[in-house]
Amino acid sequence: MTADALARARALLQKAGSCVVLTGAGMSAESGVPTFRDGQTGVWSKFDPMQLASREGFEADPGFVWRWYSSRREKIAEVRPNAGHFALAGLERRFSPFAIVTQNVDGLHTRAGSTGVLELHGNLMRTKCFAECGVRIDSLADVPAGEPPACPSCGEWLRPDVVWFGEMLDPTVLDDAERLAARCDVMLVVGTSGMVYPAAGLPYLARRRGAKVIVVNPNPSDIDDCADVLVSETAAKALPRLFEAT
Ligand code: OAD
Repeated sequence: MTADALARARALLQKAGSCVVLTGAGMSAESGVPTFRDGQTGVWSKFDPMQLASREGFEADPGFVWRWYSSRREKIAEVRPNAGHFALAGLERRFSPFAIVTQNVDGLHTRAGSTGVLELHGNLMRTKCFAECGVRIDSLADVPAGEPPACPSCGEWLRPDVVWFGEMLDPTVLDDAERLAARCDVMLVVGTSGMVYPAAGLPYLARRRGAKVIVVNPNPSDIDDCADVLVSETAAKALPRLFEAT
């Protein structure tokens, strides 16, 4: 990371009263959770997103999809938040308002101690009814891992409570995220390719409303053209240093 970019990002954060953080898969990469679109290691270079992240894919082979998410859940239960998650968890009293808006479904921000995290794409640990009868189950303790179990209310399949391609985001969560983005002094964007909307639109909304935008990503991303400061470094390395002196 260039010392200059770090210094400029710190200066923006020091001046800011309010801050919204938008995170993507890169936020959790150093915890050992693979991203989606990074070359050979990205999840979508090995698996077909339409098979594993769409209603049609689930209907075609519910057991296959259920088992894939079960194995992701098991892996995520074994990993830990990284230094970047912990640095963000320490910021809640430094900015007002402060919010973390994440595309990640791994729950690592909350496990690091952040509260009120806006999870745009759901949460892998939760389960809901495929027929959307309203059933949501927070913990999977009693649910078998092999085939999707039946919804206790309507008998349809249960499915992971994550947003699949072609599905709408929870409008309450998205409204909250947009409201916060439109009012913040600084938006800090960490570890996202900026290829998935509406999440990728939030930094542009913030910028149009006068916010400064800081992007933390070791690689180029689609959001770089919106950045006032680009910090070319990983989340676990950059974030603790970004807030050392604020
Ligand atoms: P992507 O996989 O598209 O992008 C990950 C980004 O993280 C890339 O820009 C990498 O350069 C960057 N990156 C990699 N390692 C990093 C590190 N250690 N620190 C910081 N950045 C790093 O992931 P997302 O942008 O989150 O949707 O993808 C958006 C959505 O697409 C996901 O939420 C998921 C996926 O399909 C759903 O699950 C609904």
